[in-house]
Amino acid sequence: MINKARGKLLGVLALFLVMVWYSIYREDSFYFPVADNRTSCPQGEVQRKAAQLIGNYSRAQPLFLQLRDYFWEKTPSLYELPYGTKGSEDVLLRLLSITHHSLPHSIQSLKCRRCAVVGNGHRLRNSSMGDTIDGYDVVIRLNNAPVHGYEQDVGSKTSLRLFYPESAHFDPRAENNPDTLLVLVPFKPMDFQWMEAILNDKKRVRKGFWKQPPLIWEANPEQVRILNPYYMEVTAAKLLHLPMKQPRKAKQASATLTLPTRSKPSTTTSRSPSSPWL
Ligand SMILES: *[C@@H]1O[C@H](CO)[C@@H](O)[C@H](O)[C@H]1NC(C)=O
Ligand SMILES: *[C@@H]1O[C@H](CO)[C@@H](O)[C@H](O)[C@H]1NC(C)=O
Ligand SMILES: *[C@@H]1O[C@H](CO)[C@@H](O)[C@H](O)[C@H]1NC(C)=O
Repeated sequence: MINKARGKLLGVLALFLVMVWYSIYREDSFYFPVADNRTSCPQGEVQRKAAQLIGNYSRAQPLFLQLRDYFWEKTPSLYELPYGTKGSEDVLLRLLSITHHSLPHSIQSLKCRRCAVVGNGHRLRNSSMGDTIDGYDVVIRLNNAPVHGYEQDVGSKTSLRLFYPESAHFDPRAENNPDTLLVLVPFKPMDFQWMEAILNDKKRVRKGFWKQPPLIWEANPEQVRILNPYYMEVTAAKLLHLPMKQPRKAKQASATLTLPTRSKPSTTTSRSPSSPWL
């Protein structure tokens, strides 16, 4: 039962993550369906929509990485980051032993989970979408998108905050709720090391980042989750059709070469610095 319920949520989240990228690709269209409390989740709708977008769509993978997949069983990954965990198993063992992988009861117990993914786009300014966004069951925000002072336009609820080191707000409590899940989206091995060093208060590594990430970041490890790179793989390979071949033994920084870059951060405000992704 629990697995089934979790699978359903995974489906919803995976689909919406995919839709984030999709909406970035198609910036000309901006469609935000208004939440309707009278409609429940139609049976199988998520799977049907996902199947339309993604060939061979499967919900077999957990949304967040979990220790048992690297400790009890060695789960081999075909790809290195950002599409897999190959080569990062050791740091993952240390990191996953202090973070969690479960969904909070407040989300787990929902019968119908309608999600809103809120980006950093300037078009949200003066949109008065705040109440509509807060009306969704799960609100997912990206990077350091501000909330305070913009509640009328972007809402105040944050169920999940997705980020990577360079896009993290220096204070994880500043723009989130006390129970917000802080979801690391790993792009490179440095990202695991950064998170592990911070949570274990070890010596910080400064080199190898795209720009200086926060070196002090006071988060409760129980709120931290690691997004399963499988969903990056699915998005890249099956939705965006990016070339999936990774350079062998290349320098760390060159891993970014396989990522698409956005030409211009035209829709971001000065308070929410743009990022190459998300
Ligand atoms: C689905 O899986 C089959 C068998 O693994 C493969 O032949 C086919 O190309 C896949 N289709 C897509 C769209 O990925
Ligand atoms: C938002 O509305 C205020 C007050 O009406 C106005 O001064 C401001 O220019 C608007 N901003 C945008 C980005 O439309
Ligand atoms: C929908 O229901 C939730 C809780 O069940 C409530 O907080 C929210 O205000 C409702 N939204 C609308 C638009 O009625």
